[in-house]
Amino acid sequence: MNTIPVAEVKSATRSYRSGARLVRALRGVSLTIGAGEIAALAGPSGSGKSTLLHLIGCLDRPDSGEVRLGDLRVSHMRAGALAAVRRDRLGFIFQSFNLVPVLTARENVEYPLLLTRIGRSERRSRVDDLLDSVGLHSKADRRPHELSGGERQRVAIARALVNQPSLVLADEPTANLDSVTGAAVLDVMEDLRDRRGVAFLFASHDPRVIERMDRVTRLHDGIIVNDPQLEAAACA
Ligand SMILES: Nc1ncnc2c1ncn2[C@@H]1O[C@H](COP(=O)(O)OP(=O)(O)OP(=O)(O)O)[C@@H](O)[C@H]1O
Ligand SMILES: [Mg+2]
Repeated sequence: MNTIPVAEVKSATRSYRSGARLVRALRGVSLTIGAGEIAALAGPSGSGKSTLLHLIGCLDRPDSGEVRLGDLRVSHMRAGALAAVRRDRLGFIFQSFNLVPVLTARENVEYPLLLTRIGRSERRSRVDDLLDSVGLHSKADRRPHELSGGERQRVAIARALVNQPSLVLADEPTANLDSVTGAAVLDVMEDLRDRRGVAFLFASHDPRVIERMDRVTRLHDGIIVNDPQLEAAACA
């Protein structure tokens, strides 16, 4: 059993300059994600969920504090090294799916592996295996516009997993899906967690997502709230 957390944030702060104003998006946030855990960041719009996901995803750095992924202190690494960390350890799923319209489902899933040294036969077997896992084997040759919203999201999940990451970050992954499809997408993620030990961290407003998580961390104005009254406000 791996006891090192997949991700650890310690007292992270991040502010944005907006004209003359300073927006304090994160004001000292600490969070740990264990291997194989499915966790959510909840909280109202503007509370700092995406900012925190970007720090953990090595897409941005904290102004102070620390971010670790496994044994790496990523908050203090250079941009070039961070690109390799993203490629090798992380998967990303965004609200808008970000599929390449001219590529088939199979090609979209395979795409991140073209940037690695993994050979063609290994690529094909990983892609087929993942398309099976998300129930899309029979639609592998369709392009995104020939798929439903839920099917597109499942292609995006398969693509996020093709590099065999230890952590997948998902920003509002069910926001564009009806509740039945959103639940089916979550089923796929839970199954992948159970069979492959992948950890997931979601940012979500969706109460149907939140209630299915192992753990929910609520943000409010850039801090984690544990106070029940603030928590009630953050849920509203
Ligand atoms: N690039 C930026 N420049 C200036 N301010 C920003 C920038 N990105 C985010 N912010 C501000 O930082 C705060 C946190 O934003 P963030 O996107 O993390 O919130 P969020 O919880 O993801 O919200 P939502 O639920 O609407 O996606 C907000 O006040 C937002 O306006
Ligand atoms: Mg957001």
